[in-house]
Amino acid sequence: MKDETLTVITSNQGKYREYKKRLGDHYEEVEMSNVGYPEIQASRLEEVVDFALEKLATHSPLVIDDSGLFVDALGGFPGVYSAYVMNTIGCDGILSLMEDRDRREARFECVIGYIGEERKKFKGTAEGTIIEEQRGSKGFGYDPIFSPKGYEKTYAEMTSQEKNEISHRGRSMEKFLDFVRTTE
Ligand code: IMP
Repeated sequence: MKDETLTVITSNQGKYREYKKRLGDHYEEVEMSNVGYPEIQASRLEEVVDFALEKLATHSPLVIDDSGLFVDALGGFPGVYSAYVMNTIGCDGILSLMEDRDRREARFECVIGYIGEERKKFKGTAEGTIIEEQRGSKGFGYDPIFSPKGYEKTYAEMTSQEKNEISHRGRSMEKFLDFVRTTE
């Protein structure tokens, strides 16, 4: 791994920052590429990742990342529609949908798709709650409205390192690292 470059295929700087922070010591270089890949509309993140991996033959070793926020009181919405919802109603829209709700549990899911010697997926989840007002300016996406279980802070009030230690993406990355270590 130390002599390899890992390509993270994403157009999201926030995601890339988290990958670089955690995986930077394990690879000679962790680079970002926004070549893009086809994202199908499916009911599970794993299906989206499987389809994209089929279409991505180049740049090995590479990772892609499909993530989503699943809010219990909204029947799992926005879930696989998280990107669309972020681009339309955003965090404020989710907070409006959550107004006066007692149950505020939610979870983030992240599926990493990897192409290297072989193709693999690694899933991480993180439980938490949707808070009532946005807090914090770090991170990206839904970070200002999500407070992970056992913490007062939102993801947006944490550094990338703190977030990686407990987040859905951090957990997927640990599984990913366990796997690549076994292939060395
Ligand atoms: P995608 O995985 O790039 O399709 O992301 C779906 C949506 O969820 C995007 O709007 C992201 O900004 C958001 N998102 C993905 N991961 C995170 C995260 O770790 N924190 C907050 N929002 C996220």
